[in-house]
Amino acid sequence: MRNKVTKAIFPVAGLGTRFLPATKSVPKEILTLVDRPLIQYAIDEARAAGIKEFIFVTSRGKGALEDYFDHSPQLESELRRKGKKELLKTLKETNMDSGAIAYIRQHKAMGLGHAVWCARRLIGNEPFAVILPDDVIAAEKPCLKQMVEAYEETGGSMVAAMEVPHDKTSSYGILDVEQQFGNMLPVRGMVEKPAQGTEPSNLAVIGRYILAPSVLNNLNKIKAGSGGEIQLTDAIAQEIAEGRRVNGLRFDGQRFDCGSKAGFLQATISFALARHDLRDELFDYMNSVVAMDRAAQ
Ligand code: G1P
Repeated sequence: MRNKVTKAIFPVAGLGTRFLPATKSVPKEILTLVDRPLIQYAIDEARAAGIKEFIFVTSRGKGALEDYFDHSPQLESELRRKGKKELLKTLKETNMDSGAIAYIRQHKAMGLGHAVWCARRLIGNEPFAVILPDDVIAAEKPCLKQMVEAYEETGGSMVAAMEVPHDKTSSYGILDVEQQFGNMLPVRGMVEKPAQGTEPSNLAVIGRYILAPSVLNNLNKIKAGSGGEIQLTDAIAQEIAEGRRVNGLRFDGQRFDCGSKAGFLQATISFALARHDLRDELFDYMNSVVAMDRAAQ
């Protein structure tokens, strides 16, 4: 019987400079898609996959994240007093169980691999998940759940994978894969942000990982890689070099790059259109915008 994956690391130490000035005082992960902060989507996905312990790797200025997951007795009693049951329910869904959430500081911005390494003592000797909240994935079955189910068959380590245009490969961790078995991609090499033209494929790593604890040992040893940072991709590639299994899972679902403004806006529109209370109004508005644009041409 494999160890169950019950812990997840959420690296949230980044400065979010692409969203300045908004991120001057608000952590990027609190920016909202419709009415829910980015981080809530990541937490919901983790919960759906059976995660019980949530580890945030934070940095200076991320206090609003801690408050967000705290109970808010005053707000709750006010909503109760006014009989606002639906809102109360929505609010309570954001509450985390006592002791289920931990915050670790990454004191220096030394890369994703370093951020994950900062949480090593809270992980111990178990497999664990990593979720990058910038990558929001809309899927019937949540992406991490798809991965946990596949992992229960394969063991080893697993990364979410998706094809990207060849001219975008230098923005991602890229997989070198053997033959493909359906959605399962046995990985024989991985390279972080390869220079244009040197990419081994156009299969990109998307921000969902299930990792063997040995990856944490690799992080102890590896040197700075792409961009002068400690790369998680390099520590996973080390697993393959040492003969341990790494698979890519081509997941079902639509991924939005909410680390970019265009991706964030696309996610906002897509999630709003999926909401019964917003769909019709937004759709009419979008049609009128398109019609006005056509008329102006
Ligand atoms: C990180 C990882 C990269 C991965 C990407 C997915 O890069 O280092 O391997 O492909 O997330 O979003 P970042 O986007 O933080 O530069």
